[in-house]
Amino acid sequence: ADGFYRNENGELQAESVSIQDIAKRFDTPCYIYSRAMLQENLMAYKEALGKRGSICYAVKANGNLALLSLLARFGAGFDIVSGGELARVLRAGGEASRVVFSGVGKSAQEIRRALLAGIRCFNVESTAELERIEKIASESRTRAPIALRINPDIDPETHPYISTGLAQSKFGIPLAEAEDIYKRAAQSPSLAVKGVAFHIGSQLLSTRPLREAAERVGEFVAHLQDSGINIAHIDVGGGLGVRYVDEEAPDPRNHVAAVSTPLANLGVELIFEPGRAIVAEAGLLLTRVEYLKENGEREFAVVDAGMNDYLRPALYNAEHIIEPIILRQDGQRSIDVVGPICESADVFATDCQLAVQPGDILAVRCAGAYGFAMASQYNSRPRPAEILVDGSHTHLIRRRETLDDLMRGESVFVGD
Ligand code: LLP
Repeated sequence: ADGFYRNENGELQAESVSIQDIAKRFDTPCYIYSRAMLQENLMAYKEALGKRGSICYAVKANGNLALLSLLARFGAGFDIVSGGELARVLRAGGEASRVVFSGVGKSAQEIRRALLAGIRCFNVESTAELERIEKIASESRTRAPIALRINPDIDPETHPYISTGLAQSKFGIPLAEAEDIYKRAAQSPSLAVKGVAFHIGSQLLSTRPLREAAERVGEFVAHLQDSGINIAHIDVGGGLGVRYVDEEAPDPRNHVAAVSTPLANLGVELIFEPGRAIVAEAGLLLTRVEYLKENGEREFAVVDAGMNDYLRPALYNAEHIIEPIILRQDGQRSIDVVGPICESADVFATDCQLAVQPGDILAVRCAGAYGFAMASQYNSRPRPAEILVDGSHTHLIRRRETLDDLMRGESVFVGD
């Protein structure tokens, strides 16, 4: 399914719905998602994986309840990193028994709630965390299902901010220390060893590092099994990159093949935790040109979305295709597309070839992942609306925040 495409009049459309109409009806900035693309992206992974394992969608990429409920319906489990994400998954109708819990800083309360909910596995990132989980499980007279997140010390060849599998990173447990920890965990009446986990980074454009990580972890798992430690699953994380502009991204079949081949003879179930590859392309950010202005040699289109609405360009220098919903015949020129925030980093794109006038609606493509999820209210800007298109139907799945939302929970000072 082509979720977003130009119709016979050259207008960008979301499934069967006019995006220009969405802008009129819901105003800008807003995020638009295509249900068909969401489904197609998940199904591509599920089909690539077949009976070898299951998909636990990484909620951090986009935790909107409507999207989570659709993904649960399409057969996804979930990878969470907080009690908030657990609450979202449960509210959306996801099953706790299909939830894995990642992250380096799980609080006691988050662990308690996840244990009580009956999640599938804790991906443990340190001995201190393992001890905390063991203590909480013992107090609750239960056994906590655990996997250790191994740091395989592999360079994922991606942006340093999203590389997680190098030895100097805060993530995971060094391979050399993991065996002893597994041996101790296997003896504990409050812990149930289920698996091994790894995740080396995000927006990976080569499967080679993923294959190398799988090979390293595979050897380790074979060794664990030889020492009588039962490993039922290997959680291979997420990280598959997508095409933002002209990158050649591997597809889910490449990803599954790269990691499942070295692990094929271990008799374990595989868990994949894709986030970006499921939702990035299925979403775009809609914004309106407020002003055109020139400074020195440059021309700027000041748009009504800012880095608070979509952080990736400011934080990672991420590049995205930005295009008008309705194309103009003339006036194409080099323009910088910038937001209204009082920060020099609030730039969506420099040197964009665009023909635009104030009032024109632009789409920032491929913004469904780490878009709304990383939005803030910086500069006291209410966060944008989110809209899901399903064929010819349009659903407001998160209303635009109001000024009351901005100040909720605060009060003016009433002391002396
Ligand atoms: N599993 C774990 C343990 C993770 O840490 C992550 C992402 C994923 C799965 C999902 O990775 P994905 O399939 O989406 O690559 N904000 C950054 C990305 C941060 C990714 C953090 N971890 C960005 O906008 O590029």
